[in-house]
Formats: sequence, structure tokens, C-alpha cells
Amino acid sequence: MLAARPPMGWNTWNTFGHDVNEQVVLENTDAFVKLGLPQAGYEYVVIDDCWSCRERDPETGKIIPDPEKFPHGMKYVADYIHSKGLKFGMYSCAGTRTCADYPGSFDHEFLDAKTFAEYGCDFLKYDFCFRPKTIDGPLLYRRMGMALKACGREILFSACNWGSDNVHQWIRSTGAQMYRSTGDINDSFKSFKEIAMSQIDNLGYSAPGCYNDIDMLICGMYGKGNVANGGCTDAEYRTHFALWCMFSAPLMIGCDLRTVSDETLKLLKDRELLRIDQDEEARPAFVVNAHPWEDGKVVLCKHLADNEYAFGFFNLSERDGKIPMYPSEAGLTANSGYALELTDIESGACLGRFADYISIQVPAHACRIFRARTVRQ
Ligand code: GLA
Repeated sequence: MLAARPPMGWNTWNTFGHDVNEQVVLENTDAFVKLGLPQAGYEYVVIDDCWSCRERDPETGKIIPDPEKFPHGMKYVADYIHSKGLKFGMYSCAGTRTCADYPGSFDHEFLDAKTFAEYGCDFLKYDFCFRPKTIDGPLLYRRMGMALKACGREILFSACNWGSDNVHQWIRSTGAQMYRSTGDINDSFKSFKEIAMSQIDNLGYSAPGCYNDIDMLICGMYGKGNVANGGCTDAEYRTHFALWCMFSAPLMIGCDLRTVSDETLKLLKDRELLRIDQDEEARPAFVVNAHPWEDGKVVLCKHLADNEYAFGFFNLSERDGKIPMYPSEAGLTANSGYALELTDIESGACLGRFADYISIQVPAHACRIFRARTVRQ
């Protein structure tokens, strides 16, 4: 099955935006490998918007790579990425133009899918700008879904309509393997907090084969790049990454890998968090405590394979404080004779057994994540 686990990779948009080119892509591909990201599970190198000429080839009707940005063409880039054992992703749009005003695939779906397949493309992010008003969202995505199936190459279909048109209800029917369910992220605590809060009720629509995509990672951008908005601290980036992992979200790195900080790399390769994200069952996390968002303190629980759970204590408020949790609210009845045994995934330390109540101190904007099992008391 394609996308048996949430897809992982790197995408040009968050850092490079319009300034994407061959050198940037190849150098980031080299860094991707050198940093050991493939061993952690990262696989795709994706070129986002702004890679093509402003108009199609008048004779063939094909989209053409910008010869200044990509002097050797796209097959060259794909071959290079493949030679490193990685997969190659591209970008187009369901409308007549892309969001940055380059040619979109509307009414050229089958030609474009074939062209991307000829390049050696393995992944297509498919945006939603400049769409004709006469055709609804589901049909636009069904068209490219069918074109990709017909193109002769296995291409992961990454839909990107920002959560509009009740996308979660129909996107699986288009053949997509992931679908953006939010507006664009920017490099700030406020942005990723709002995204997480807005998506908590949609997690049931994410499952192996097609995942709810809450946008690309901002970890390690520190206020630089195309989606800059003040940046975050390392603790905030950890909260962001942990939320994405609790949500079984696709993990597409957005920072410049050539200059990635040690702290960011450690986070992106965090085995315990990645284990939660990549858990084969991809079950939706649920909110354990009663009115979590009012004060910004939320406890999430996610069932994992092998009789385990992940518990995340997230303090998204502006003040350090304790976050209480009653295991009964996660399903552990008071008369069960069982307790939850919690292990801190950061330190590896066992915190003990809890049947009635637990309270965890969490600094503002930070989180503590635990692995848990039910044990007899
Ligand atoms: C939209 C998408 C972004 C990015 C840009 C490119 O805004 O949501 O992720 O692909 O288009 O123009």
C-alpha cells in the first residue's frame, strides 16, 4: 500500500518559496542524506510552486521547467534524487494557474501526469488556486486522481485544498494519499497552535492510505525563510513536532537542511516521537481533559499498536503550570484494578503507576510526552 505510514520528507516552500532552483534542491538532497534523515524514515524531496516557466510550451502544451532555475531539466533532478535512494516530488494545481501564478493543470491533467511520470516523479502536491467556478472540488481532485493512475508510474497524490469544501468527507474517494486540511502554516507559535486546535475534531478522518496533512514543519527555521513570522524557540518547535506526531501527520521538513541546527536535527530524528507518528495503526488522538482549549492546557491520548498508548501533556498557554489528568477520562474505570504506567519518552524514566489522578508540570509553550501501558495494581 502506498502511504501505509504518514509520508515523510522535505519540501522547498517554507524556506525557499519563489527562490527555488536546481542548486538549492541538489544541495538539500545531499544534506538530507548526510544528516542521516533516510535512516530516520524521511524519503521524499519535494519541489513546491515556482519551478516552471510562466507559460506552457505553445507546441506541445506541456509545462516546461524554468531553464534558468533548472538548467538541466527535471529528469536530471529526479535522477539525482533517485541516485541517492530518495523519492522525488513535484507540485501543480487543480486550477488554471498555481497559487504563485504559474501554469496549473486544469484541463491538462492527463498530459501533466504523464509529463511528471516521464520526469520520474513519485509524489505530486496538488493545490487549489484559480479553480474554475463551474467545477466542484471533488471533481477537480478526481480528475488528477485518475490521471495519476493512468500515467504509468506510482505517484503519491498529496491534495492541498486547505480544508475547504468539507474535504475530509470526499478526499479518500479521489485516490489521494494525504490532504491538507488547514490554511498555510507560518513560522510562529501562534500559527501551529491555531492549526492544531482547529484540527483536533478531524483526526478521525486520517488513516493508513490517506492522512490529514496539517502542513509542513517549521522546525528549525528560527524566523528565516519564505514563511517567516518571528520564529520559535527550540522548546516551541518540539511542541509543534510532538503535536504533528500525536496527529499522525505527514512530516515534511521545511527548514534549510544545509544549515540545520543540532537541536533541530535531534528533534527531527527523535525516535520516540517518530514511533508515535509512524505507528502502523495511525489511530486518532483524543482529548482527555474536559475543556482543554479554554486555558490552553490539553492532554491528548493516542492508542498505539502493541497495547501501548502515547499521552501528550501540552501547555499552549502563556504561563507555566500543572496539567491534571484523570485516567478515568481516558477510559480506565475506577473499579478496573488497573493503573497506567507512564514512561517519559525524553528521559526514558518510568514515572510510576497512576489510577486516579496525575498532574504534570509543563512550562508555557512546552509539552511532556509519555508512553503508557495498563498494568495490574
Ligand atoms: C498554497 C499552499 C502552500 C504552497 C503555496 C505555493 O498556499 O497551501 O503550501 O504550496 O500555495 O504557492
